Amino acid sequence: MKILVTAALPYANGEIHLGHLAGAYLPADIYVRYLRLKQQDVIFICGSDEHGVPITIAAEQQKVSPQTIVDRYHKSIKESFKKFGCSFDNYSRTSLPLHHKTAQEFFLKIYTRGYVYPKTISQFYCPECKMFLADRYVIGRCPYCENDKARGDQCELCGRWLEPFNLIEPKCRTCGSTPHERQTTHYFFKLSEFENALKTWIKEKSHWKDNVKKFCEGWFAQGLEDRAITRDLTWGVKVPLPEAQDKVLYVWFDAPIGYISSTKEWAEKKGKPDLWKDYWLDPKTKLVHFIGKDNIVFHAIVWPAMLMAHGDYVLPSEIPANEFLNLEGRKLSTSENWAVWLPEYLNDFEPDPLRYALGINLPENRDVDFTWRDFLARNNNELADILGNFINRVLVFTHKNFNGIIPKPAILVNEDLEVIKKIEEIAQESGELIEKFQLKDALKTLMTLPALGNRYFDYQAPWTTLKTNRTRCQTTINVCLKLVASLGILLEPFLPFTAQRIANMVKLRSKTWDSAPNPEFGPDLGEVTVLFRKIDEKIIEVQLKKLGSKKQTQPKENKMEVTLDEFKRIELKVAKVISAQRVLGTDKLVQLEIDLGTETRQIVAGIGHVYPPESLIGKNIVVVSNLQKAKIRGIESYGMLLAAVSDSDIALITTDKEIKPGSLVS
Ligand code: 2FM
Ligand code: ZN
Repeated sequence: MKILVTAALPYANGEIHLGHLAGAYLPADIYVRYLRLKQQDVIFICGSDEHGVPITIAAEQQKVSPQTIVDRYHKSIKESFKKFGCSFDNYSRTSLPLHHKTAQEFFLKIYTRGYVYPKTISQFYCPECKMFLADRYVIGRCPYCENDKARGDQCELCGRWLEPFNLIEPKCRTCGSTPHERQTTHYFFKLSEFENALKTWIKEKSHWKDNVKKFCEGWFAQGLEDRAITRDLTWGVKVPLPEAQDKVLYVWFDAPIGYISSTKEWAEKKGKPDLWKDYWLDPKTKLVHFIGKDNIVFHAIVWPAMLMAHGDYVLPSEIPANEFLNLEGRKLSTSENWAVWLPEYLNDFEPDPLRYALGINLPENRDVDFTWRDFLARNNNELADILGNFINRVLVFTHKNFNGIIPKPAILVNEDLEVIKKIEEIAQESGELIEKFQLKDALKTLMTLPALGNRYFDYQAPWTTLKTNRTRCQTTINVCLKLVASLGILLEPFLPFTAQRIANMVKLRSKTWDSAPNPEFGPDLGEVTVLFRKIDEKIIEVQLKKLGSKKQTQPKENKMEVTLDEFKRIELKVAKVISAQRVLGTDKLVQLEIDLGTETRQIVAGIGHVYPPESLIGKNIVVVSNLQKAKIRGIESYGMLLAAVSDSDIALITTDKEIKPGSLVS
């Protein structure tokens, strides 16, 4: 059977944080890694969601183009996923032409099959910004919970889905004006026609998680309505109809199609461009969508209906949606920076301790809380003291007393057989749990093995039998090493970096889940390294301080703006350096004589530590020529030269070609 696993395509409008990881990406990665060890035909598909209002709003806030935003975050999200060990077979992006084409073809297919129709409706229009206010472009008071920052598509506080007209006192998000109503034509997907088919389909999914089933029941209770799948925006996939050139597909229409286009890209990269069809066109494929609970309606209702309307593709088999991760007792909030950002975490720590702390406390059935104290305790008391300690003491003992050669076992006594049996039982049990998406319990179950290993080691006391009963000691160490090697396999889905290091240390030869009770390894050991470092309390204090403080990567909101007129008051001119000498007794200051065309002047600049004075002679530089005179170290300076300054370097601003001294820079 083919298994196609997806994780929700993250919006490329910011970095990944712990909430994303616990919601979809870590569980999906654990599941896929397990299936690979079970030698299943599985592919893991993801990519950046690069359209929609979340992107254009981020672009406006940061005063750059949407393209700049998606390029920046696609690259950095992809990189941090890789460092975290997310083992996607393909990580694509919805701005690819391949995706645009796939989404347009999808639209046209369901349009020609009669499931899409145009309808003229009233929408909010901002007279100031001269645009229709799609989705989050309109804000107002939530009619349910009174939150006055509810968005046109959803109230984040109470979680209700909204239509812009539901909002009380609606306002344009950009300029604050009260919007007008204006007529516009949009394309609607006949979701209502799929109500019965969806109900029947979901009924078959009795094993699905309660949160998903309950959510769907809630939607059915209200009755499914047709949904607009186009928007009056310029950023997105163009609607492929001549009469709708100025419209784009709604991001939630094109994004899930990204699962298909990413699979196509994967197939192309493999040099087998048709291979994607083996997965998407085969009704026996097991399609598994890992998502967070805020994505349930789109994956369990709208997307399956889209697939039914299309007709060619397989429907989802499983939608393991997780609840939310809170942080230090509070709801995550990216705008308030109440979040732990993955790239920042990875600057300070290894990935596996986070995979562990999140994995052992996944929000599978209810919201959970992540705290730095818990992270520290899990790392120090469970990873370092139990898992790391067991492996380290066994390997060090083997190196020291058996020259790193795996000792042969003699007769196995009950205690030995029990350990071996336990490995088999735990592998079986935790594998079954993973298959049922109970990953947290699977990890807890696995962690009983190193605890068992420590008890066995203590009880068998090989340091004593080494002197009193050498064959007994050999057997004990052999059993312990077998357990270490098994852990090098069984922990791989959860702690892939650690598992790889264990595999190297015991020279593991085969890595399949079913071989874990009888791992092939040795005959000697590799170099032993410490698996986990203890984390100091002080480091946790530093992390706690970061919460809620403004991120440095965000542009400073209160940076003063200048008008063009104000800027024009500054006179910038090209000058040629005539002479240069270091100001005596200083490392940085250089006194320059410059030619400004109609006059020569003296200026003082702090660049001597980067530019030797003689290297400046003859250069065309740019100076602020109408700056008030200043005295630096007693030397008069009649202007200031321009230079780019980074943390550790300075680059002088010069002209691209020869130009007359005194030329204005504008
Ligand atoms: O909520 C989100 O971050 C969306 N970008 C998820 C999209 S999932 C899929 F449909 F692509
Ligand atoms: Zn406006």
